[in-house]
Amino acid sequence: MASCTSLLAVGIICGLLAQLHVSQVIDGCSWVNVTNQRLVNWNNETVTTGNLEACQSMCEHHKDFKCRSVDFNQVERECVLSEGDRADSYLGDADDWQYSEIQCQEEWRNRSSCTLVGPVQGKIMFDSTLRFNVRPDSTVEKCEAACRQEQRFFCIAFNFRESSGMCALQELDSHMRRLVEVPPFVYYELNCDPDVDPTIWLPPAVHVGISDDRLCSIRGPVIGYSGPVEQNTCAIEATLTQCEKKFIEMSAVVEMKAFSYNPLTGTCRMHRESRENEPLVATAGFNYYEYSCKFSEDLVNQCLHFAP
Ligand SMILES: *[C@@H]1O[C@H](CO)[C@@H](O)[C@H](O)[C@H]1NC(C)=O
Ligand SMILES: *[C@@H]1O[C@H](CO)[C@@H](O)[C@H](O)[C@H]1NC(C)=O
Ligand SMILES: *[C@@H]1O[C@H](CO)[C@@H](O)[C@H](O)[C@H]1NC(C)=O
Repeated sequence: MASCTSLLAVGIICGLLAQLHVSQVIDGCSWVNVTNQRLVNWNNETVTTGNLEACQSMCEHHKDFKCRSVDFNQVERECVLSEGDRADSYLGDADDWQYSEIQCQEEWRNRSSCTLVGPVQGKIMFDSTLRFNVRPDSTVEKCEAACRQEQRFFCIAFNFRESSGMCALQELDSHMRRLVEVPPFVYYELNCDPDVDPTIWLPPAVHVGISDDRLCSIRGPVIGYSGPVEQNTCAIEATLTQCEKKFIEMSAVVEMKAFSYNPLTGTCRMHRESRENEPLVATAGFNYYEYSCKFSEDLVNQCLHFAP
């Protein structure tokens, strides 16, 4: 818990630095405030300060890590410093809290006034970790407006399903992650390139050797195992192909990590956790599959080896 207030001498040095940093914050950067919200996770360090300005100043001068945002509670006078901001996580409702982050003009994180490009037919952004980012009964126009106005995180793209009007806002774009084929959806993103021509724009081709060109695929089966059956695990009747399709479709709107399939009963279970976080359960009749981008040397099986 390093803070500027521990020693008077340090306090004086911090005071001098404060003036230096204030001008830096003015120089193309400023604090942006959101009331009654706070950052979900990424709450790295808690200190007690008198007011929001002191909390923000603490962040500007923080030494242990580059502080990018704060949550301040005006009742408890609690000041939470964070190394992340809405580009890393998202805001959730929280009475008595105020969220503030340092935004600099040259960062280009806020794409709200950039050009909408797309649609990319039959593709989606698959890797989002956001929760509660789905809007029903939408149109492409409404979905676009929602993305441009989003406060909780930096919305830069969206998946849209015409047949049901389903709009799923995304914090990742096609430069960051590969798009995945899911026929009922279309994909759009906000592009800040001043020369972009939306009529001819295409998502980046997959370049071999670049880190975002990961060998993502559904891997399995792990025969005789199922993912843990949680309360929110959803089970449907399907063929294996339908189960796989359902898994990818659901992943377009909520984060799904794996599924299990019983070929005898046609039961298809969805899992929000993969075996990385939750051990598999030996379950007669079921086979386990997961979506993974991890490199596996076992490319024939595409299935990581199992501890006996
Ligand atoms: C955010 O709050 C700080 C401290 O009260 C203030 O200096 C700053 O101007 C606010 N930013 C905006 C955009 O209102
Ligand atoms: C801050 O929290 C995030 C999310 O929990 C973590 O990934 C990051 O490493 C933390 N940073 C520091 C300096 O502890
Ligand atoms: C981006 O800027 C617009 C317009 O200034 C604003 O309405 C929107 O809330 C900002 N987005 C975020 C995530 O701060």
